[in-house]
Amino acid sequence: MRLLDKRTLVTGGSDGIGLAIAEAFLREGADVLIVGRDAGKLDAARQKLAALGRPSAVETSSADLATSLGVATVVEQVKETGRPLDILVNNAGVAYLVPFESVSEAQFQHSFALNVAAAFFLTQGLLPHFGAGASIINISSYFARKMIPKRPSSVYSLSKGALNSLTRSLAFELGPRGIRVNAIAPGTVDTAMRRKTVDNLPAEAKAELKAYVERSYPLGRIGRPDDLAGMAVYLASDEAAWTSGGIFAVDGGYTAG
Ligand SMILES: NC(=O)c1ccc[n+]([C@@H]2O[C@H](COP(=O)([O-])OP(=O)(O)OC[C@H]3O[C@@H](n4cnc5c(N)ncnc54)[C@H](OP(=O)(O)O)[C@@H]3O)[C@@H](O)[C@H]2O)c1
Repeated sequence: MRLLDKRTLVTGGSDGIGLAIAEAFLREGADVLIVGRDAGKLDAARQKLAALGRPSAVETSSADLATSLGVATVVEQVKETGRPLDILVNNAGVAYLVPFESVSEAQFQHSFALNVAAAFFLTQGLLPHFGAGASIINISSYFARKMIPKRPSSVYSLSKGALNSLTRSLAFELGPRGIRVNAIAPGTVDTAMRRKTVDNLPAEAKAELKAYVERSYPLGRIGRPDDLAGMAVYLASDEAAWTSGGIFAVDGGYTAG
């Protein structure tokens, strides 16, 4: 077991990539605290994770991390248990894929509140509670470095670019305290988030996108949530003891071209 007795927190752990990471962490012997807004979704995820055989290793926290109250609630919950935190995965995110000229101020603020400020202030609030050799993993996106035709991404790309900068600057600043900070930049992954942005496209645009994906992913398919779990386990584990400040593409080869 590569994460035996490690205490981990996964934001957005009730669905998609975060849930797959939480599941992989549990299988490797870690305890997990998953955070999301919807209590029903959190409960379903808790049941799924508990069915792996260690129900007492699964905790949930219902909080909106796009608000400072939500961030404070999660910090308080970690603090209350009195046990140090070993691994933080800043995964919860939002994607507004809308044309530049129609990005609203509310969409801009929400993107930065969740994709950037939540990672920033959650990490800051938890800083006194990290154990020796802690690992922070930010879930970025290929959209920080590569765009897709007809998928306007200005505000999403900007926020994930900011998250990459945060990853590098914190690796530099927190390294002397023995804290490692890395990011994973997934390619397109089949989750509720992706379906939300694709389902309402007109049929022709959907077909075009499908054809684009098929010819652009060297490995021939988009990702599944558990495609991201191996890299997360590696970065969380002591095997990555000398790995910090990296932005690791896990994208079926998409950004290689
Ligand atoms: N899917 C992709 O193609 C893709 C590609 C590259 C990068 N990513 C990144 O990967 C991360 C996970 O995406 P995903 O596709 O797995 O998304 P997802 O399936 O939609 O899951 C999102 C998770 O985040 C939680 N969440 C959303 N807003 C929240 C908030 N304000 N406060 C707390 N929790 C919140 C959701 O639960 P509630 O709704 O109940 O809050 C859910 O657990 C995101 O950062 C995304 O940008 C995704």
